[in-house]
Amino acid sequence: MKILIPADQIQQRVAELARQIARDYHDRPLTIVGVLTGSLIFLADLVRHLDLHLRIGLIQASSYRGETTTPGELTISPELLPELRGRHVLLLDDILDTGQTLVRLVERLQTLEIASLRTGVLLRKIGRQQVAFEPDYTGFDIPDAFVVGYGLDYNDEYRHLPYLAVLKDE
Ligand code: IMP
Ligand code: MG
Repeated sequence: MKILIPADQIQQRVAELARQIARDYHDRPLTIVGVLTGSLIFLADLVRHLDLHLRIGLIQASSYRGETTTPGELTISPELLPELRGRHVLLLDDILDTGQTLVRLVERLQTLEIASLRTGVLLRKIGRQQVAFEPDYTGFDIPDAFVVGYGLDYNDEYRHLPYLAVLKDE
């Protein structure tokens, strides 16, 4: 495995994103909805920088299945969502790859009569997007490689790594 972004750089950038989000939401309560499971670590680090009226919700979406690194069918499980009607929502995911996951989740959340919706991702893969979609907050643009760590997995492994690494082909 080759380290792509070391832990201290991730922490620095997450703190910057938090400052930006805190400025944008200083005058209204915010609900951050994290996309399970990949956004878990990003979400946990980000919210601890936010001195805001803040709620946290979770939604599960999975497109990568088992031992494959190409996208499969998307499953959305909204059972963990809190009441979102009238709320200002920031949807947070680990990575924007083809863009299908976030576009589908945005469509879903917009049916819930929320007050506003923005999106944030830690990573955006260059040259992979299949749909025109621009997150409101992006941590890093990265090259087209399969990455693990800081919440991102391969077959549910490596999520706990504090850095981001490129998984080499076996
Ligand atoms: P999209 O729908 O193609 O944008 O894929 C988004 C989802 O695919 C993310 O939430 C990740 O769970 C997963 N994913 C995409 N690229 C990677 C990667 O390089 N490593 C690990 N997971 C990835
Ligand atoms: Mg994911």
